[in-house]
Amino acid sequence: MESIRMRVSAAVLAAVSMTASGMAAAGDMEQRLAASRQATAELMKQLGGALKRELKSQGPAAAISVCRDLAPQIAGRLSRENGWRVTRVGTRVRNPLLGMPDAWEQGVLEEFQARAAKGEKYANMSHSEVVEEGGRRYFRFMKAIGTKDICLTCHGGEANLPAQVKTSLDRDYPMDRARGYRVGDLRGAVSIKQPLDIPLREVKAGD
Ligand code: HEC
Repeated sequence: MESIRMRVSAAVLAAVSMTASGMAAAGDMEQRLAASRQATAELMKQLGGALKRELKSQGPAAAISVCRDLAPQIAGRLSRENGWRVTRVGTRVRNPLLGMPDAWEQGVLEEFQARAAKGEKYANMSHSEVVEEGGRRYFRFMKAIGTKDICLTCHGGEANLPAQVKTSLDRDYPMDRARGYRVGDLRGAVSIKQPLDIPLREVKAGD
């Protein structure tokens, strides 16, 4: 009799503590989502600003370094600071080493394309999920990047590419597939992968 009651209360306790940890995990996921959104906004804002400035002051050929050097530099800093992998992936890539989506990312890009076809705007289009890969759990997040006018100088059709840009892209990216985009196409996404066994960094107010 006694042993049955003990077993029952152990089961009840287990259920209670599972709910509690489940709730804690849900709160943690919300924080991870907010932190992902913040890092993405920072990356996109810095890139967009630098691209506009460079195109205006130095011209398109010089602006190449924004997408080529500054983007991986900021993404690299955000990765190191947080213990995440922060990267940009493309629906068709220019740099296969950095921009190639993995299977999960490929699936989300397809989902984004389907959502866009139903009229959803890229501005707030994102997807997040907890996934297990190789015995480790990750919080994964992607935010869609649409193609804007300003992107066509280097990602548009051949007619959009200034001669100097074309020469430089042909030389540096023999595998380039990131051309032929039109305004409103899905260009790619910012992708963030957070290992769940690494705690979230304490973010100071105004950081
Ligand atoms: C001045 C030229 C230039 C402009 C303008 C430009 N890009 Fe790029 N973009 C590049 C280059 C070069 C790369 C390859 C970077 C590398 O080597 O990793 C690239 C790579 C990318 C990638 C990574 C995936 C891939 O294809 O390798 C994304 C995403 C991207 N660009 C989005 C954009 C968006 C969105 C815009 C407009 C807001 C834009 N780019 C405007 C030159 C440009």
